[in-house]
Amino acid sequence: MATPASLEYAEEFVPEDDILRAARRRGIEVGARPILPGCGAALCFLATVVNARSVVEVGAGCGVSGLWLLRGMRPDGTLTSVDVEPEHQRMARQTFAQAGFSGSRIRLIGGRALDVLPRLADGGYDMVFCDAAVQEYIDYLTESVRLLRKGGVVVFADAFCDDRVADPTQRDPDTVAMRELAKLVKNDERLRPLVLPLGSGLLAGVKLS
Ligand SMILES: C[S@@+](CC[C@H](N)C(=O)[O-])C[C@H]1O[C@@H](n2cnc3c(N)ncnc32)[C@H](O)[C@@H]1O
Repeated sequence: MATPASLEYAEEFVPEDDILRAARRRGIEVGARPILPGCGAALCFLATVVNARSVVEVGAGCGVSGLWLLRGMRPDGTLTSVDVEPEHQRMARQTFAQAGFSGSRIRLIGGRALDVLPRLADGGYDMVFCDAAVQEYIDYLTESVRLLRKGGVVVFADAFCDDRVADPTQRDPDTVAMRELAKLVKNDERLRPLVLPLGSGLLAGVKLS
């Protein structure tokens, strides 16, 4: 098993640049907790592996995860990013512009995820990243499987729920919801499951058919 030092090494292996660091600071200031660098590097890597042209992000925050995704996507790819908070979306747009991404590469949709996701096209996406309301994640999973093409990837942030998921004495609603989600991803025959111990944990599935 990896030691804390090795996990730290993995976390810092692909460091954030100044734009990501500034976006992280803004995210923390407004309470939109950004993903950690190890998670960002994994998202960027996965977007490259699936040659992503169309990605959905649920929970834009101030643009940290979105920027990692954009950097892994094809140069003609479009990021569709959903968030209920207009101020967070404004800051995410600022982050993407600072990094040099044209507005035509980004579709920011304001609204609640469960109102917006059903409007997106079946099988039209290469990747879905979910980082919003944990207790809605099971519904995001249903929508994600519908949205993904065969070979597409769904990823959920905060799979460890601040280290509570692996501790059976913890039974708060978010932890219970995350455990239930992990069980569904693991047992869904349409998905190949994985947990990555980077940042606060990523739960992922590749759509097989
Ligand atoms: C943890 S932050 C996302 C951080 C972002 N992924 C990043 O790495 O920078 C969660 C975001 O989800 C948004 N959010 C929370 N509940 C939502 C919902 N039901 N529908 C859409 N967005 C939601 C919040 O406004 C917040 O910006």
